[in-house]
Amino acid sequence: MTGEVDRPEAASSGPSSPVPADGAAVPTVDAPPETQAVSWRHRHLLDVDALTRAELELVMGTTDAMTEVLARPIPKVPALRGTAVTILFYEASTRTRVSFEVAAKNLSADVVNIAAASSSVSKGESLVDTVRTIEALGADMLVMRHSASGAPYLAADVFGGSVLNGGDGWHAHPSQALLDLYTLRSRLPGGSLEGRKVVILGDALHSRVARSNVWTLTAMGADLWICGPATLLRGFEGWAARGAAGRRLTVTSDIGAALKDADVVMALRIQKERMASALLPSLREYAARYGLTRERLRAASPDVVVMHPGPMNEGVEIAADVAVDPRSVITQQVTNGVAVRMALLYLLAGARAGGRERGA
Ligand code: CP
Repeated sequence: MTGEVDRPEAASSGPSSPVPADGAAVPTVDAPPETQAVSWRHRHLLDVDALTRAELELVMGTTDAMTEVLARPIPKVPALRGTAVTILFYEASTRTRVSFEVAAKNLSADVVNIAAASSSVSKGESLVDTVRTIEALGADMLVMRHSASGAPYLAADVFGGSVLNGGDGWHAHPSQALLDLYTLRSRLPGGSLEGRKVVILGDALHSRVARSNVWTLTAMGADLWICGPATLLRGFEGWAARGAAGRRLTVTSDIGAALKDADVVMALRIQKERMASALLPSLREYAARYGLTRERLRAASPDVVVMHPGPMNEGVEIAADVAVDPRSVITQQVTNGVAVRMALLYLLAGARAGGRERGA
């Protein structure tokens, strides 16, 4: 993963590509993606570490256009008609899998869903053979989740179309980070994260959501804090100490310092299924020391935005009343996932069709 990346030249915008005030040309999403002049150049979406601020702005602007589509009486456009999208998940999911499926259908793509447990994977077929088989069956785009970090990179090596990472091991969850960014921009005054104190609280060690959010939130100027028990912060301290130029990242076990005047708090799920023994004395002790409660939130800004990527362990990392507090945007995160994933499918389809093929 790289911290410093070049900004691409702004693409010229044709009459069908409105240009918002920030200069990023946004596609007209009713039309096929290959007809649009936009600066997206990535064939795959494997992580967000290489996305420039201008590319993040393009995803946000395209998501705005998709949100407008979703507000129509018939929330559908023909943009991906004739495109075959296969969704291959080797791990459980509700939000990511369903929202990618809804997003692809809203774009008029043909969608196939494969649950690894009921596929030939259960007979010992390798990931590479599975991906080759999916391509032979006509897939143009592959959305995949895998328990092994890096698995989507292997798939991208052998797949002729576009691969979108729906979460790989502890490594990355790019579409989640982008929907988190979109949700925050829609909620924070002025729609900007510049200088805002954002706290990611909890099991960062096992969290692909935290790792991807480090890149997007700091790229947009947030003052990012990662907080939890020391055993669940391993690796992040070194990351913060190295410090990518211009990015603000603090890692601490001091929850009082982290929550003080916070503008945003994102609680992370305690990932019991990935937890080796002895990382935590007990869930009860974790909840007592790091659980996000109303009382703890009093240290934060009065207008603090509360987030959680889901699924939640209520009463462990977040109290049930905090999850439904008016300051919580947890439901909006889920809803925004559809528009963000529509934008990603659209942009990647355009890069593939336009020959702007470059790994991301
Ligand atoms: N946030 C998230 O990835 O949720 P799912 O596991 O339900 O997809």
